[in-house]
Amino acid sequence: MENKSTNVVWHNATVTRTRREQKNNHKGALFWFTGFSGSGKSTLAHAVEERLYLNGYNTYVLDGDNVRHGLCADLAFSDNDRKENIRRISHMSNLFVQAGVIVLTAFISPFRVDRDNARKIAGKDFHEIFCNCSLDVCETRDVKGLYKKARAGQIPFFTGIDSPYEAPEHAELVTNTDANLEQSIDQVYDYIMSNVKV
Ligand code: ADX
Repeated sequence: MENKSTNVVWHNATVTRTRREQKNNHKGALFWFTGFSGSGKSTLAHAVEERLYLNGYNTYVLDGDNVRHGLCADLAFSDNDRKENIRRISHMSNLFVQAGVIVLTAFISPFRVDRDNARKIAGKDFHEIFCNCSLDVCETRDVKGLYKKARAGQIPFFTGIDSPYEAPEHAELVTNTDANLEQSIDQVYDYIMSNVKV
């Protein structure tokens, strides 16, 4: 993307990330959940966040459906709009990480290149978590009734129907979200624990 912001100068904070992390007693990091709509990204991210919160961690969940109500309300679901959605979230998440927060993002984020850009932006703080759930199972669940609408031709470019999903090839963690939610919560929670120690 062309950078149109010229004549801007970075201001260094005195309250640094290191100081924040010392105060929090844990590191900031970004746990990027990806998968089909209905694969359980949000459910899992919020359940893990609940456990982190109860144990004293500073967290925030950025969720596709929520962010699209405000920050990304101007974006639809074309390839380009999804790209811009993920670009904004990548930068936003990175700011949260600099603030010492454990960020959990729940976006379909269907394109590898966009997730790889998120990885570049957050660097070593980025952890990709693939919510592995077949399209069949997601469509059978159809919690929001969107697959039914998409099959009826009422939602164009629906992921898995007439818009592609590129599964991760090198995710840090793969969790099978077609099975037992509690197992996925344990698995993700343990993974986070081993990556946020100061
Ligand atoms: S992303 O592709 O840009 O990462 P995002 O995670 O923000 O998508 O939003 C996905 C959510 O938007 C879905 O869970 C679903 O509720 C809703 N949605 C509406 N239209 C579509 C569509 N065409 N494809 C996928 N999800 C859609």
